[in-house]
Amino acid sequence: MRVKAVKVGGSVIAPKNRPLNADIPAILRLAEELSNYLRDSGNQLVLVHGGGSFGHYLVKECLTRDGELRRECFSRVAHYMMMLNSFVMEALLSSEVPAASLPPRSICFFRGKLPECFVDAVKELVSKGVTPVLFGDVIPSSTGFEVISGDMLVWELVKELGIKEVVFATDVNGIYTDDPKKNPKAKLLKEVRADEVLREAIEGEVTSSVTGGALEKVKVAVELGIKGVKASVINGLVPGNLYNALRGKVEGTVIWF
Ligand code: ADP
Ligand code: IPE
Repeated sequence: MRVKAVKVGGSVIAPKNRPLNADIPAILRLAEELSNYLRDSGNQLVLVHGGGSFGHYLVKECLTRDGELRRECFSRVAHYMMMLNSFVMEALLSSEVPAASLPPRSICFFRGKLPECFVDAVKELVSKGVTPVLFGDVIPSSTGFEVISGDMLVWELVKELGIKEVVFATDVNGIYTDDPKKNPKAKLLKEVRADEVLREAIEGEVTSSVTGGALEKVKVAVELGIKGVKASVINGLVPGNLYNALRGKVEGTVIWF
C-alpha cells in the first residue's frame, strides 16, 4: 500500500471569474476519479484542495488597506472555505470515498514564513484507511493570521508523511515555458528537474522561464527541502486525467525533485 497526495486547484473546482462560484459537475467528476483510483489501486490518498473563488475573492475583500488579515477576516474566510470544502466532501462521500475533513486552521500555524502542522492527525486517519481532506485556508501566525495556500500545505504533508508522489490538478495542461493564457507561443514541458526550472527562472530567459502559480509550486517545495519526489501537473478539467496520472499515465508535466 502506498500513499499519494493530490492537490486539486481552486482553478478547477471554483473558477475565479465569479465570487463563490463552485463547479459542482467538475467536483463530482473528480470525486469519482479519486474513488475509482482508490478502488483499483488499493493505495491511499491525502487530498488538498484550493480556495479559488471562495478563498481568494474573500481574502481580497476583507484584508485591511495595508494587507493585514484581521480576526474578522480570518473568521469569514474560514467559514466560506468550509462551504467549498463541504461541496467537495459531499461529492467524495457520494462516490463512496471514506473521506474526512481536517480544517488546516485547527492543525497548522505559521512560525515565520513556514507552516508547522500537527501531522499526527493526518497520519492517524491514513493508518485507518480514511482519506484526509485539507484545503488552502487561513491559519494563525506568530503575528496574527495568514493564508496558507493549498500548494504549500500539500508540500508540507508530502514532507512530513514521507510521500513520494504528488499530483497537481490545475486548469492548464501542465507547466509551460511561460503562462499559456498570456503567451500563445509557450511550450508545454513534458519532464523537468526542479533545479532546472528554478535555474531558468532565476536566469530569467524570456523564452524558457516558468512563471506565476506554476513557478510557485516548485519554489515552495524547494524551500521546504523536498527531495526524491515525483510531482505531476495535469489538467483537471479534462476527464480521466487525474485518474490516469495517479495510475502513472501522466498527460502533462512531470517534475522530479
Ligand atoms: P491552481 O488553482 O490550479 O493552483 P493557479 O492559479 O495557482 O492554479 O496556477 C495556475 C495558473 O498559472 C494557470 O491558469 C496559468 O494561467 C498560470 N501560469 C503562469 N505561468 C505558468 C506556466 N509557466 N505554466 C503553466 N501555468 C502557468
Ligand atoms: C487559497 O488556497 C486559500 C485561501 C485564499 C483561503 P490556494 O491558494 O491553494 O487556492 P487556489 O488553488 O490557488 O485557488
